[in-house]
Amino acid sequence: MNDSRLKNIFGDTYTEDFFSSGSRFSQTLNEKGILIFKSFISLNGLKLLQNEANELKKYSYKSSSEYNVYISEHDNNFSKNSPRNRIMSTSKKCIPNDLIPNESILQKIYDSTIVKSFFLDLLDKNELHPYEDSLSSININYYDKGDALGWHFDNSDYTITLLVKNCTKGGVYEFFNDMRYTNGKENYDLVEKILDKKVKGIRVDSLEGDLMIFKGNKSIHQVTAVEEGERILVTFNYNEESGVSLSEQSRKTFFGRIK
Ligand SMILES: [Fe+2]
Repeated sequence: MNDSRLKNIFGDTYTEDFFSSGSRFSQTLNEKGILIFKSFISLNGLKLLQNEANELKKYSYKSSSEYNVYISEHDNNFSKNSPRNRIMSTSKKCIPNDLIPNESILQKIYDSTIVKSFFLDLLDKNELHPYEDSLSSININYYDKGDALGWHFDNSDYTITLLVKNCTKGGVYEFFNDMRYTNGKENYDLVEKILDKKVKGIRVDSLEGDLMIFKGNKSIHQVTAVEEGERILVTFNYNEESGVSLSEQSRKTFFGRIK
């Protein structure tokens, strides 16, 4: 690793050799819709990351937001209770990127050329850029007792998350793989069954230190309410083009400000 702060941060498996080729995981990601790199962060690294996150928590912004699973405007062509328009909710606390110190381990991981080239190779992208705005590239999300993330699709093709701290009960990630479209059309019937709890998705048991990559805009997902303990999840957010900002509305909702 060319950055001294990243020394001993990654788990034993994650050597320069490991990072040199991401494409060997691409097929699994395409087929299963999810990849979990177990113990991506070492125990030593986790301690540092948990300390960083704990220190920052007092500056976090608590949001309770309501939206539909498509994170888009209400569509008058559908009823209020339709899967298209039904209201989901999320409550969490969040630290935006501008409150994360430049020297922090999280920033070093995000900026690391070796990690980024691994993601490029794995996701088969030519470019990955940070958000243009100063808030949205790395986020630390805190879910305390009762906090949850309602069913939704993400905006970006892929979502990269790092579980920094796991709660002791609840807070489970559940998803339905690559089910969004049938014949190029939104699959509202299946979304309705999911929202009505008629079908169960894949529940992922992930542990502290695991890195998870999933197809966030094709696979509907939720995190069940935290029942005991605290869950801290970091998202590493990239764009395929430079100069992209997160929408002002999303920034307001999750950070309480736009800059
Ligand atoms: Fe999401």
